[in-house]
Amino acid sequence: MKLEIVILAAGQGTRMKSRLPKVLHTVGGKTLLEHVICTAQALEPTAIHVVIGHGSDQVLQALSQYDINWVIQEQQLGTGHAVMQALPAISSGSVVLVLYGDVPLTRLSTLQYLVQQAQQGPALLTATLQNPQGYGRILRDENGTLLAVVEDKDATASERQIREINTGLLAAPLQDFKDYLPRVENSNRQAEYYLPDIISLAVAEGREVASCTASSELEILGVNDRVQLSQVEREYQRRLAEELMREGVSIADAARLDIRGSLTCGDEVSIDINVIFEGAVTLGNRVSIGANCVLHDVKVADDAIIHPMSHLQDVVVGRACNVGPYARLRLGTVMADGARIGNFVETKKANIGANSKVNHLSYIGDCDMGAEVNIGAGTITCNFDGVNKHRTEIGNGVFIGSNSTLVAPLRIEDQGFVAAGSTVTKSVDKGDLAVSRAQQRNIQGWKRPGKQGGED
Ligand code: UD1
Ligand code: MG
Repeated sequence: MKLEIVILAAGQGTRMKSRLPKVLHTVGGKTLLEHVICTAQALEPTAIHVVIGHGSDQVLQALSQYDINWVIQEQQLGTGHAVMQALPAISSGSVVLVLYGDVPLTRLSTLQYLVQQAQQGPALLTATLQNPQGYGRILRDENGTLLAVVEDKDATASERQIREINTGLLAAPLQDFKDYLPRVENSNRQAEYYLPDIISLAVAEGREVASCTASSELEILGVNDRVQLSQVEREYQRRLAEELMREGVSIADAARLDIRGSLTCGDEVSIDINVIFEGAVTLGNRVSIGANCVLHDVKVADDAIIHPMSHLQDVVVGRACNVGPYARLRLGTVMADGARIGNFVETKKANIGANSKVNHLSYIGDCDMGAEVNIGAGTITCNFDGVNKHRTEIGNGVFIGSNSTLVAPLRIEDQGFVAAGSTVTKSVDKGDLAVSRAQQRNIQGWKRPGKQGGED
């Protein structure tokens, strides 16, 4: 069987109250339309056609990497009209599945079943809702045979009582679309060419129309405004969290976890509340992530602990490392096994050697550090001279005393020692001590200044 998929995404999305086309709003860090495209790809169709109109330039720019036949619908004259625009590009003999660019959570198994039902004629995906308001209703005869879909705006008061609704998703052989769509009229309350009108046209010819039911209300949830966008987001996050928990990840509260990209976890990983993962994050075995951390494009090796309130972006954390609390690790920070970065430390383009420690209140930027180094509290690498960035190289076993200023370019050889409070501008040879600070004077018999004026 040849399958081709048409995704409708030309509508304006007025209720989003946004300059961004609706289908470019994101769920889990991915645009609505990309979610639908990825689901479509998973069905392995011979082609995917996406009908766009409002904001088509922005959509094309944002999704140019996908192998899509983009179809422009200049005027949005209805869902039937939208599908018509894609028909000329579809190869004969195909079954055509219609998806909506603003319905991102549909399950693959549901769509597979829908396509299976559509080999000989149209098949419709329906759902029964507590509150069907706004949806097209499914009309059936006394035997339950599907007759037609009536839009909410066109329905009579009694038809509005029907709780079985049209999800909008349907499939049929290409020939059915070719036969029925040109005969669809726009004599309705919205003066639109309705796609579901092909159902009543098929029924009028004595054809049987199949229907299948969605597995849950949530998988057919469409996004029309930001309230629905947030409902879809939470449902998506809940699904991801449940999948992870089933794979053995401990999640303190599934409702307080956000994955805006991909998260891969080893065994016995634990994640506390309010953690955000962005981009591609990989966590090794037994990794623990504390509360309120943000990790963006990060790799964390086995047994590492990221303590609460830490922010890591473009970072590699080695085995059994300790980070935070309150650490900020930026682009290009690589921690070797057993390294520690403590509170109020910022790092950037820094290689922190095995078992080295930067435990308090430091800035380490553009720095290569060996193993077993101890960086005292308040140490700053001065990497920027106002024009260029320079590197600081620190050998193995180096000790930097507290409150030191390391002015790059600078090299401190193995076992070098910098006395606390030094400003170091010249390289330090192996095992040497660098002291660079004003000498202390103690003044004997010194008296504190007396108080001026009267008592108060
Ligand atoms: C549609 C169905 C309704 C169903 C509901 C489910 C029709 C006539 N009605 O109504 O039975 O219950 O979906 O959500 O189909 N679009 C285009 N071009 C157009 C018009 C729409 O691409 O000219 C796209 C929209 O961007 C959207 C989708 O088609 O992705 C659905 O359009 P929308 O206007 O939201 O239809 P509903 O009124 O929700
Ligand atoms: Mg809609």
